[in-house]
Amino acid sequence: MKKDIHSVLSRHKNSIVTTVLFAASLPVMAEKVEIHTPNNSLVIELNKGKEPQFVYYGTRLTEHDRQTLQEPSTANWSHLQLYPAYGANHTMSETAFAMRHYDGNMSTDLLVSDYGVKAISDKAPNNKDRQGTLLTITLRDNLYPSPVHLYYLAYKDADIIECWTDIENKEKGTVTLSQFYSSCMPIRRGDVYVSHFHGSWAAEAQLTEERLNNGMMVIKNKDGLRNATTDRQEVMFSLDGKARENEGDVIGAALMYSGNYRVNIDTDDTEYHYYIAGINPDNSEYHLRKDEIFTTPRVAYTFSDQGLSGASRNYHRWARSYQLRHADKERDILLNSWEGVYFDINQKGMDQMMSDIASLGGELFVMDDGWFGDKYPRDVDNSSLGDWVVDKRKLPEGIDGLLRDAKKNGVKFGIWVEPEMTNTKSELYEKHPDWVIKAPGREPVTGRGGTQLVLDLSNPKVQDFVFGVFDELLTKHPAIAYIKWDSNAPVMNHGSQYLSMTNQSHLYIDYHKGLIKVCERIRAKYPDVVIQDCASGGGRANYALLPYFDEFWVSDNTDALQRIFMQWGTSYFFPAIAMASHISATPNHQTFRTIPLKFRCDVAMSGRLGMEIQPKNMTDEEKALCKQAISDYKNIRKVVQFGDLYRLHSPYSGDNLASLMYVTEDKNDAVFYWYKTETFVNQHLPRVKMRGLDPEKKYTIHELNSIDNTPLDCEGKVYTGKYLMSNGLELPYKHSVDYHKQNDWSSRVLQIKSL
Ligand code: DGJ
Repeated sequence: MKKDIHSVLSRHKNSIVTTVLFAASLPVMAEKVEIHTPNNSLVIELNKGKEPQFVYYGTRLTEHDRQTLQEPSTANWSHLQLYPAYGANHTMSETAFAMRHYDGNMSTDLLVSDYGVKAISDKAPNNKDRQGTLLTITLRDNLYPSPVHLYYLAYKDADIIECWTDIENKEKGTVTLSQFYSSCMPIRRGDVYVSHFHGSWAAEAQLTEERLNNGMMVIKNKDGLRNATTDRQEVMFSLDGKARENEGDVIGAALMYSGNYRVNIDTDDTEYHYYIAGINPDNSEYHLRKDEIFTTPRVAYTFSDQGLSGASRNYHRWARSYQLRHADKERDILLNSWEGVYFDINQKGMDQMMSDIASLGGELFVMDDGWFGDKYPRDVDNSSLGDWVVDKRKLPEGIDGLLRDAKKNGVKFGIWVEPEMTNTKSELYEKHPDWVIKAPGREPVTGRGGTQLVLDLSNPKVQDFVFGVFDELLTKHPAIAYIKWDSNAPVMNHGSQYLSMTNQSHLYIDYHKGLIKVCERIRAKYPDVVIQDCASGGGRANYALLPYFDEFWVSDNTDALQRIFMQWGTSYFFPAIAMASHISATPNHQTFRTIPLKFRCDVAMSGRLGMEIQPKNMTDEEKALCKQAISDYKNIRKVVQFGDLYRLHSPYSGDNLASLMYVTEDKNDAVFYWYKTETFVNQHLPRVKMRGLDPEKKYTIHELNSIDNTPLDCEGKVYTGKYLMSNGLELPYKHSVDYHKQNDWSSRVLQIKSL
C-alpha cells in the first residue's frame, strides 16, 4: 500500500500517524518513510526490530521517483544505520552513541521499536510560529529498557530538516554516556569536497575547501565557551566535484551547539562518507540518573542543487524566519564606542559620540567596555568584571544621564556587559570565590589581563546572578534598547566547585545548559531588547545561541580587506542581517593597514552597517562620505537584510576580485558589491556575471557611495536581467579621482532597481 505522507498528515493534524510509503514484500515489513521540505526529501527505512537505515537525502522526490527509488548501494559493506551504537553491532566503524549500562555492560544495540510522523505547529526558538512534519523514531535495546528517540523535523516553508536525539535512562540506576552525538548522515562517495571554516581571534571563518579522502576528518572545538573562534561546527559538502558557488549539488550540515563540539567525517572502505556530529565527548562523560533525559543539540541539514550559495540561501531564509530574534525588523545603524575610545569612557565623551552618530544619520549609540566598577574601576582589562555598577568618576549622572543624552541627541542607547566573567580584582570575586571555574584543590588559572575568570554557569546561583545583571539593568533603565553580551575567556582549567566530584565531567555540558536557561529567562522577561552576541569577536556565532540574539559581532578585526574574507566565510551559514560590520579608523587597529574610507564603507555596507571609530577625529570630507554611506544604506537596508545572497566571485579565487549581491524575493531590487583586493599594473580582472535577477525584467543601475569625478558608464542606464546575468557590467579598475586622491583601492556598490 502506498500513501502520500502529506495527504495523510492533512487529515490527522497534530496526531501521530505512521506513514507507509513502500511496504516491502511481506513478511519483511520494512517501511520507507519520507519527510520533505518544499524542495528536499529524506527517506529512512524503518523495520521494527532492526536498526533504522538511511535511504535518500536530496532533491524532493516526485510520486514517480518514490515508486522507483533504489536501495542505496550496499556494496563494500556500506553501513547505513542512522544511529550506530557502540558494542553490539558496531565496533569497527565510527559510532554515534556509547553507554555503560547500569550493570557495567558497554554494548548497546539500538533497534526500531516505534515510529510516527505528525504535523507540528509550534513556536520556533526565536518565538515565531512554525509548521512542519516531525518524524520520531524510538529505538530500544532488547536487553535494556532505556529508549533513544531520534527526531527529524522538516520545515514546511524552509528547506531545512533539523535532527536531534533524546536519550532516556529507564534502567535501575545511573548509566554513563561516553558518546552522545546528535545525528549521522551518510554521504555517497564520488568527488566530494567539504567546505569548512577555520579561524582564530580576529581571523574568524577562514574558508578551507578540501576533497574528502580515506580516513577520518575531525573538526572540533574545546574552548569551553567560544566555539566559533577556532574551527566552526557548520560544514558544506559539494557532492559533484570542486565546490562551486552557483552550480552543483550541496548538502549543508549546521550543528547547533554553543559548547565544545566534534564533527567527524569518516571515510572507510565502504561507498559512503559518514558525517557524525554533536557534543564533543572529550572529558565529558555524562552520568544520567534514573528517569533523566539527555537531549542532544540539533543538526540543521539542507540540500541544494544551486551550489554553495543556494545552500546558504536556504540557511539564511530559515534563520530569518525561525532562528534570529526580531529577524523581520530592520537593524539600526549604530556607533560602538570600543575602537573610538576603548576604556576611556566619560559622560562628555559619550554625549559627543551620540551627537556625532546622530548627525551622520545613525540611529543607535552603544557604550562598550569600561563604564563600571566602584571599589575597582575598570580602566584596563584586569579588573571589575562582575561589579556591574556605574563608575561614578567617569559617569557622574549614571546610566540615566546617558539615556537622557541619547534622547536629547535623538538616538537609542545600548550598553556592553560580560556577565559570565569576573576578575580576581573585583568585589564579586572577593565575595564569591566559590563561583568560578577551577580545578579542585588548585589555584584558578587566569585569562585576559592576567586576572579574568569564568563564572561556573552549571551553578544555579551563578545563573541567577547572570540573569540578574540583565534584570537589574533593564528594570532600572527600561529605555536601554540594545545590549552587547561579550565573553572573552575560555575554560582554562577543568573543575566545578558546584558539581559533585563524580560529576566533574559534566562541567562543559552543564555550563551550556545553564547558559541557555539564562537566555530563556532573559527573553521571557525582555522579549524586545536587541542583544548582540559577541565573544572576543565572532566566537559565539552559532545557531544554539542566535535564537536569543539579534545579531553577532563578526570579528574584532575591522580591517576592510580581511573582513571581505571573514564575511565571505561567515555568510555560508549566517545571513547579512546578523553580521555586524563596522566602519573603523585607519590605519586599522588590528592589521595597521591603511584603506581609504570609501572602501571601508563599501565593505561594511554589505552586512549590518555600523561604525567603530572616534567621529571627532574624522575630517569633514570623511564625515560627509560616511553620512552619504549611511543615507544610501537606508535605501538598500531592506535588500541587504532581507534579500537573498548570491556569492558571485570568491576572494579566495586568487585573481584579486571579490563580488556578491543581494536580491529581494520579488526580484525587483538588488545590490551588487565589487571589491578589487589587490592592484597591479596591467591587471586583468574577470567581468562578473550577476545572479538571481529576473531575466525578463529591466533594471536601472545607480552607483552608491560614488567618489568618481565622472559617473560610471552604466550609471542610470537600463539593462535586462538577462544581460546582467549572462554578460555582467564592465567596471573600471580604478576610481576617476583627482591625482592627489588616487590610491590602490577600488570598490563599487551598485543599486539595481527594476523598472
Ligand atoms: C571583545 C569584543 O569583541 C570587543 O568588541 C570589545 O567589546 C572588547 N571585548 C571589550 O573588552
